[in-house]
Order: sequence, then structure tokens, then C-alpha cells
Amino acid sequence: MSNNSAGQEPSGVLLHRQIDAAPKLPFTPLPEIDAAMCRELKAAALDANQRYLVDQIEEHSFCPYSRGGRAQEQTERYVHYYSESDVRPLIEFMAKAASDPGLVVVQVILPMIETDPEEWIDFCHKVTDLGNEYLGAGTETFAVAPLHPALAYKDTTPFALIPLFRRSPDPTIQWVRLDGLTALYAGRERDTKYVDPSDIMAFMEEKHQQPLFDRIAETNLLMANRLGIPRVEEALSNISVAAQKRYMNILLGGTSGLPQDAPSKKACPCSGQDAPVKTEPPIVATLCEEGWQLIAFRDLKQREPRHVQVEDVDLVVVRIGASAHVLYGRCPHRLALLSDALVENTRLVCRHHGWDFSLDTGASEGVPGESVHRFAAWLDDGQVWIKPADVRRWRIEHPQAFKPGELVP
Ligand code: FES
Repeated sequence: MSNNSAGQEPSGVLLHRQIDAAPKLPFTPLPEIDAAMCRELKAAALDANQRYLVDQIEEHSFCPYSRGGRAQEQTERYVHYYSESDVRPLIEFMAKAASDPGLVVVQVILPMIETDPEEWIDFCHKVTDLGNEYLGAGTETFAVAPLHPALAYKDTTPFALIPLFRRSPDPTIQWVRLDGLTALYAGRERDTKYVDPSDIMAFMEEKHQQPLFDRIAETNLLMANRLGIPRVEEALSNISVAAQKRYMNILLGGTSGLPQDAPSKKACPCSGQDAPVKTEPPIVATLCEEGWQLIAFRDLKQREPRHVQVEDVDLVVVRIGASAHVLYGRCPHRLALLSDALVENTRLVCRHHGWDFSLDTGASEGVPGESVHRFAAWLDDGQVWIKPADVRRWRIEHPQAFKPGELVP
């Protein structure tokens, strides 16, 4: 698997059944081109897809799973120059993806094809049905989310807005392995906000998950409104237009060069201001007879949160006056590290979307009902301590879905 480069195209996967009933392609197959040009086109398409995912979907937390999924190699992207006249290549990609149980999200990116968005959606569903049938066993292996640069959306409801986030630079089929969702959400059953748009199709089709889907759609609507929906649309469109120009340059024999637009800067998605993320490594706590020794009190600067790890649990430690406060270190909104948060009076304010938490209780004022756990801490011998039993109990109730220090979003 790979997450930053196109996966190898499938080979040797044969379709054993007749595909007479397969849907017709909703686009004209592309003309044959030489291998070097084809390679260059695929690299450009992958580059555009990367910008879509990283600069937009992940940057604005429209897809909180995306970054972690790529980091954990649970996603794969294939770019295919579609010169064939039937659906066989797509079924083969699906079979290849199905053969790797570690894959949860698979994208097949088809640069250069011209297809109407409505026809594309219909085609993606039909080809997925066919593929699931081909994979057999009477169960559905994959759910599908059709992506296309011109999907129609409305800003009237959270659900009507979803197609906006699926405006990928090129028509793309996104498959989500249904049995992978369980693993994906292991330990996150209590989290009602952490989900990937790539999972949305699956959740839409699983009615019992609807409340979770509702919350994600609502969160995304909120974020899009903060950013300005026209601005999101324009940014996505710019990526697609730049990609098409680049393909033309390649086909006309010019050099594709590097992406023509400057990379976006890391910015706070809601305020538009820089939201620096600390690069300082976390402090690893030491287990002693007296308890977990977190950090020397003198190493804490007033109102500067520090990131401390107790085994696989991220904590944030803040000094206010002569006291140290120890809270669980990830924001319950989208699990950003709270060591990057601001301290305002006696509240920690997450830099990403502004959720706040009292250092005295862990409760949020701004988002009633939300909180982070506060651990009872004490000072002794110039060190900050917490009880091992407290951490143990908390870990049993909150299995950690992340590797220590993992950056999400
Ligand atoms: S991650 Fe969104 S407010 Fe913290």
C-alpha cells in the first residue's frame, strides 16, 4: 500500500464472469498515448488529488479521518488513464483492493475523462453493485462515494452540502470497505463527531449510524459557513482547473513542471490566522512508586500548555500560578492535541475550531455537555504527579484510537 503515490495498477486479476449486464461507460475512452506521457499525466493527477485532500479536506477538517487513514496506510489511491471500452479495469481495481484487508478507503482517479456528474453518480453505484456481486459471498464488500468536480450541492441543509466536499479535481470513485469500518472506529464508539466523508456513504446506508452522520454533516456545514461556502467552492475549483491545464500542457508536449499554484500556508481554518502547531516533542512520563511523574514544575512556564505522554495517553499540563492542571490532551471535537491550545483566563481554547475547556473542571462553556477529563494532580519534590490507578481506569473507559502524539486533524 502507499498513501502518497499512486498504487500499482492491478494485473493478472481476471474477470471470471460475463459482464454483459455491466453499465456502459458514461464517457468516451481516451486515446492511446505513449507510456512516458501516461506516467506524467498520472503523476499530475495524483498531485492534484493530494492538494484536494491535504489543502482542503484535511486542512479544514472536512475529513478528520483522512490524514490518520493515510498515515496508517489504510487508504490507497489508483490513477487510471482510461483507454478501455468497458468496466473491467474498475472491477479489477476493486478486486485488488478487496484482496488487501488492511485497506479501508480506496480511490480510483480517472483524469481527463469527460462525464456528466449525474451520469457519473449513477455509473459509480452500478459499477460498485457489479463489483460487489463479482466479489461474491452474498455480502457487500464496498460502499461507494462518487467524487466529481461539478457535483451539484445546496447550502440549505448539512446533507445537501455534502457534494461540495466531494468536488475532487477529477472524476473519482471512492470505495469504503464496509467491514473495515468496525476496525476504523474501534475505541471511538463514544465519539460522535469523528468521521471521514469517505465513510459517509457507508453510514448513510447503515441507518443505525445516522446520528453520527448527522453530526458530521452539521459540523462540516458550520465549518464551510465560517470559511465562506463560495470560498470553499472556489478553492476546490481552482485545484481542478489547474490540473486540467497541467494535463493539457503534458499532452501538448510541454513540461508539467511543478504545481503551478503556491502551496497553501498552514492556517487556522476558522479565523484565517496562523495557527502554529508545536513541533516540540512530548515529555514521556516516568512511573515511580509514588505515581506517574509527569514533569518538573520549574519546567512549566506560566500558561504554556505542555504535552506529556503516559504510555499511550496524551495529556496536557498547564501551570497557573503555583498550581499545575492536568487534563486529557486531545480535544473531543476532532482530537487535536490540546498542547497547541491557548490559555485564556482559566480556560484552554483549542486553536482549531475554538472549543474551550475549564482548567478547573474540564467542562466546556462554549459547547455545553462537552468536556475533557481532568486528572487529580499534586506537586511533590518539585515534580507534577498523577495516580497510576486514575490513568488505568480512564484508559479502560477510553481505549486510545491514536498512536501517542499522532497529529489529528
Ligand atoms: S479540534 Fe475542533 S475545536 Fe478542537
